[in-house]
Amino acid sequence: MVFLRFLNFSMVVVGIVLYIVNSYSSIPDPTPQYGCVTDAYPPQEKYKLPWFKVDLDADPRHRWDEIITTYQEPINDIVEQLVHLVSIFDPNGTILKIVDDMMPALVLKFPKEYREEIEGIADASGVKLGRIVVYNIFYELFSVCTSIVAENGQTGEHFHARNLDFGLFMGWDMQNHTWTVSQILRRMEFNVEFIKDGAPLFNMSSFAGYVGTLNGVKGGKYSISLNERFVLEGGFVGLYEWIVKHEDLYFPTWLARDILTETHTYDEALNTLQTRAILAPCYYIVSGIEHNQGHLITRGLNESLYPLQLNAEEGRWYLLETNYDHWKKPFFLDNRRTPGEKCMNESSYDTISKSHIFNVLSSDPVLNQLTVFTTLMDPQTGQMESYRQFCPTCYIW
Ligand SMILES: *[C@@H]1O[C@H](CO)[C@@H](O)[C@H](O)[C@H]1NC(C)=O
Ligand SMILES: *[C@@H]1O[C@H](CO)[C@@H](O)[C@H](O)[C@H]1NC(C)=O
Ligand SMILES: *[C@@H]1O[C@H](CO)[C@@H](O)[C@H](O)[C@H]1NC(C)=O
Ligand SMILES: *[C@@H]1O[C@H](CO)[C@@H](O)[C@H](O)[C@H]1NC(C)=O
Ligand SMILES: *[C@@H]1O[C@H](CO)[C@@H](O)[C@H](O)[C@H]1NC(C)=O
Repeated sequence: MVFLRFLNFSMVVVGIVLYIVNSYSSIPDPTPQYGCVTDAYPPQEKYKLPWFKVDLDADPRHRWDEIITTYQEPINDIVEQLVHLVSIFDPNGTILKIVDDMMPALVLKFPKEYREEIEGIADASGVKLGRIVVYNIFYELFSVCTSIVAENGQTGEHFHARNLDFGLFMGWDMQNHTWTVSQILRRMEFNVEFIKDGAPLFNMSSFAGYVGTLNGVKGGKYSISLNERFVLEGGFVGLYEWIVKHEDLYFPTWLARDILTETHTYDEALNTLQTRAILAPCYYIVSGIEHNQGHLITRGLNESLYPLQLNAEEGRWYLLETNYDHWKKPFFLDNRRTPGEKCMNESSYDTISKSHIFNVLSSDPVLNQLTVFTTLMDPQTGQMESYRQFCPTCYIW
């Protein structure tokens, strides 16, 4: 517990120091432009993320092999960067020893399928098991994002899109003026189509070596995306509780993946996302395909707070979530909500389109230096397109 709090605290300190260093460095300090981009869609072909297939009927230990082999180098780089960060604060390697010696035991508490997948990923990548476990836990705690669900009043079509921002406080590359981890992630992001019983089941976009679902779409049914929620008694507390007592607490991204694998209706998916106990607070943004089917679910470990639904009749034809509770103001140093809404409001219920949403997600500071990709999901058809994002002149987070 003390260790986890320390880790959390040190990340924040590193981040603040790096931010100050950056502010005084030679490059102009990036400030939000607060302008709405109008011509970002479609991006050039070369920014499209590659596709892979993962067969859920294949042996869990080997179903990720192709992906891990392809991305072995960045997986090693990112784990090395995490080790490097920890060693700054712990030169004697005590924490690393705990990770290497004790984390593998933690894997035994994972559901069988995820356990075997993670063990297989450690084998295929050559990275120590404990470090792959930590790498998987990190996404649950440190992803900063923007998700949008919208309905078009003319066609009834639903759109669901997200920016994935990751790498905050995890090292700043002084030479290239980039977030170190974000830069590595841009080399290991991809789309995957899951196959079951020989047929395509659902799509998601992700990072190599990671087994959870940060966003996914099941054609003709629904789509889900997940944003990190920062609360004081948040993920670290849940993690600790899970380690010492509640064996059944669940990673939020596993829950999303389980639902996309097993659940066939919007209502059932919504119900499970609201009620299943999870070990880190988060936001689930869900889109269906019927009128007003779109929800923003704010999750505590054991409860859903003030769920917000699309309601075109009341003027709420879209939902936009960053990383703050919708009934509160966003943190003043990180307000991506107001600029995002302002750009959404330049469209309307009758005219909203995929390209408009992509443009919103490409507008500073919704698009920022941490944004590593943008995914557009089509819940009607299951189609998905993802683009690498890299904006060195945008706001720093
Ligand atoms: C690091 O290890 C050295 C030698 O074993 C020891 O003297 C020192 O107290 C340790 N420092 C910390 C912070 O644990
Ligand atoms: C920094 O940029 C240089 C030149 O573009 C590149 O060769 C190098 O790999 C980059 N460093 C990192 C850590 O990405
Ligand atoms: C979660 O909520 C259920 C039902 O309200 C309750 O029985 C259970 O004890 C709660 N679990 C935790 C960990 O608070
Ligand atoms: C966007 O429009 C909605 C509905 O009219 C309004 O409530 C909201 O304040 C607007 N947001 C911004 C940032 O202008
Ligand atoms: C996944 O997305 C691709 C590209 O849009 C599409 O061709 C495919 O049908 C989708 N798969 C599923 C299961 O919906």
